[in-house]
Amino acid sequence: MEIIIQPSSEAATDIAARIIARLLREKPGAVLGLATGSTPLLLYKKLVGMNLDWSGITTFNLDEYIGLPREHPQSYHTFMWENLFRHVNIAQENVHIPDGNAKDIPRFCSEYEDKIRAVGGIDLQVLGIGTDGHIGFNEPTSSLASRTRIKTLTRQTHADNARFFGKDEAVPNHVITMGIGTIMETRQNILLAFGKHKARAVSEMVEGPVTSINPASILQMHPVVKVCLDEPAASELQRAEYFRWVYDNKPKWQEF
Ligand code: GLP
Repeated sequence: MEIIIQPSSEAATDIAARIIARLLREKPGAVLGLATGSTPLLLYKKLVGMNLDWSGITTFNLDEYIGLPREHPQSYHTFMWENLFRHVNIAQENVHIPDGNAKDIPRFCSEYEDKIRAVGGIDLQVLGIGTDGHIGFNEPTSSLASRTRIKTLTRQTHADNARFFGKDEAVPNHVITMGIGTIMETRQNILLAFGKHKARAVSEMVEGPVTSINPASILQMHPVVKVCLDEPAASELQRAEYFRWVYDNKPKWQEF
């Protein structure tokens, strides 16, 4: 894991945007894995502002609520189209977001995995992290070998996400999420985390044992993971000084 601590979420996002932009320029047929939530909002805004060519890019989103109409303001379909896709020249048929209204969800999930395989796998996956260490919607105790499937949200995630819904609106309990095994097959991951409320989950992910209690900790076993943090999210890392030292002394050829 490469831990990149920046003075602000803006600066941390900037690094992620530069890495993604470079991939899109160098590989016009790249396959991106994308995330939702408040964390990557600025990233998508920056990418839109970079005038990149998305015409050959394929995307797969991590997750979606089950039973929420596609056009609901809180569906991840709406989120992705509003915040990224409608602002770039991506081909609609190259966009893949789990269908939370599929008639046969287990079948949909296994076909989603087939589609990822058919395009040659994901080149770069963008990740956020939940306050309980979840990635995608892989909640604590998720199998570290899991594939795309249905999950039930924990009460904590349910409460965390309720802030996005209206007061009287029901927050879905069930979701479709790419599995941890699916995420582990991507060629590269960039995980973003901002704010003090993420500090515990981040320190467990980076410095704790690999455990399904903090699903993101499995990324310790992935060969290429960049973790872009602001200071508050990095505030519980015991080895923060070492990570800063590594970053400040990167060989020229390794810079972004
Ligand atoms: C949601 C999403 C995750 C996201 C996480 C953090 O539940 N399924 O993909 O990383 O929660 O959300 P936020 O970025 O809003 O803190």
